[in-house]
Amino acid sequence: MSVSYHEQQPTVLVLDFGAQYAQLIARRVREARVYSEIVPFDISAKEVERRAPAALILSGGPASVYAEGAPRMDRRILEMGVPILGFCYGMQLMALELGGEVPRTDIGEYGFAELEVTAPACRLFEDVPERSQVWMSHRDSVGTVPDGFSVTARTAITQVAAMEDPQRKLYATQFHPEVAHTEFGQDIIKRFLHDIAGIPPVWTMVNIIDETVEQVREQVGEGRVICGLSGGVDSSVVAALLHRATGDRLTCVFVDHGMLRLDEADQVVRTFRDQFHIDLVHVDAEERYLSLLAGVTDPEEKRRIIGEEFWKVFFEEATRLEGVTWLAQGTLYPDVIESGNKTAAKIKSHHNLIPFPEGVHFDLIEPLKALFKDEVRAVGAELGLPDEIVHRQPFPGPGLAVRIIGEITHEKLEILRRADAIVREEISAWDRDRAVWQYFAVLPDIRSVGVMGDERTYGRPIIIRAVTSADAMTADWARLPHELLARMSNRIINEVDGINRVAYDITSKPPGTIEWE
Ligand code: XMP
Repeated sequence: MSVSYHEQQPTVLVLDFGAQYAQLIARRVREARVYSEIVPFDISAKEVERRAPAALILSGGPASVYAEGAPRMDRRILEMGVPILGFCYGMQLMALELGGEVPRTDIGEYGFAELEVTAPACRLFEDVPERSQVWMSHRDSVGTVPDGFSVTARTAITQVAAMEDPQRKLYATQFHPEVAHTEFGQDIIKRFLHDIAGIPPVWTMVNIIDETVEQVREQVGEGRVICGLSGGVDSSVVAALLHRATGDRLTCVFVDHGMLRLDEADQVVRTFRDQFHIDLVHVDAEERYLSLLAGVTDPEEKRRIIGEEFWKVFFEEATRLEGVTWLAQGTLYPDVIESGNKTAAKIKSHHNLIPFPEGVHFDLIEPLKALFKDEVRAVGAELGLPDEIVHRQPFPGPGLAVRIIGEITHEKLEILRRADAIVREEISAWDRDRAVWQYFAVLPDIRSVGVMGDERTYGRPIIIRAVTSADAMTADWARLPHELLARMSNRIINEVDGINRVAYDITSKPPGTIEWE
């Protein structure tokens, strides 16, 4: 990534020394209303100078500064006079590069630690009490600070838990202020940004929208744009933003594969055609999909068919429109970050691989590519998208197809849609529903015996899945109240024909996955 996405904004560059810390730091900086971007650790001083950041943050990383091939930075960056804050590995590197010492030790410090601020006049810790809780995760630590630096905090194990050279505007902490476990972490970050680096908190939603709209206008000029809508957050926000930027020169194509949840397709049409007055092509392709999926039971095969058909239908419609040269896509920032890890950077290039048919080409426009997911949601809300779309739970592209085990038929889709609507209705009415990451119903491919009234039944079960999670990488089954489970079970059996049993999935991930396929 060679250009900044939002050039008018004062920008903080986060040097990424690996692991997952850099993204979290970039988000915390943005939460402090300062625009930030992640750059690889080996960015040159010249490139930093060209980008003229208002401040720099050096992230932590998993390596030991002594490990072979451990990431190093261009030393001249530390001498440019730009305010710099280093965390953990970033602090050790700052110390080493400027002549301090980082002795090898055998004692690490992991988890909570009590921080004692030893320099009460330290500006970085102005909002931090003398003693507070911080999060540590390190083995090596600074033994001797470089000339010009002083020690500003310690813990029981780490003598140099923070250091600073206010003259050169260089600050560093051995602990991680970016994680929630560090009690005053965000205060430290804000103090550094607003006070020490003097960056005003101007990165606001209104600002983001205005700037993005301006960029889109510059990019497409008088051109016409097409945008694929799925009902999901990203494509909905792209559509609403593009509409603000280009008005009636935007056409949205909504490929409705028939695997959406109850009322979802109607809501897309209501929102974009009736509320936003966007030129919307609604392709009702359920029958087309069902005939392709007839007899198919293999989950990968189902996904392949649905994915390929989506682009076929989309381009059929797209090429029918006159004078459209731009295709808008909901790529987000985490999809394009050039990580400190070079192999990760390669994997990230996949997002541009749209399967254009022979002879068809559109130029891509990606108005969300500088934003994190929570920012996309905030933009959507600001643009007036309904809550159901802005706070929509993750929903697989192939939709209910992944939640019907075995062959997909219209009848099974109807059963699942109705059972799923009950699950969603009941859990969303529960006062702690926001603590649940995702909840839905699954229709497995089995039947079992039951009894209703005096009759023996041979019906299908519905499985309820509800999980708590932070990022879908790991998850735990939600401890829903028994009364809530009982209500869902009663309603599903009474209201959905063909269902005679309800089960609750009590598997965490791993070993299970969130979805059933
Ligand atoms: P699993 O089932 O692997 O799912 O634990 C992890 C998360 O990813 C969502 N998911 C998808 N999201 N397209 C998506 O955009 C897909 O094809 C897809 N498949 C699974 C799933 O809902 C969960 O949040």
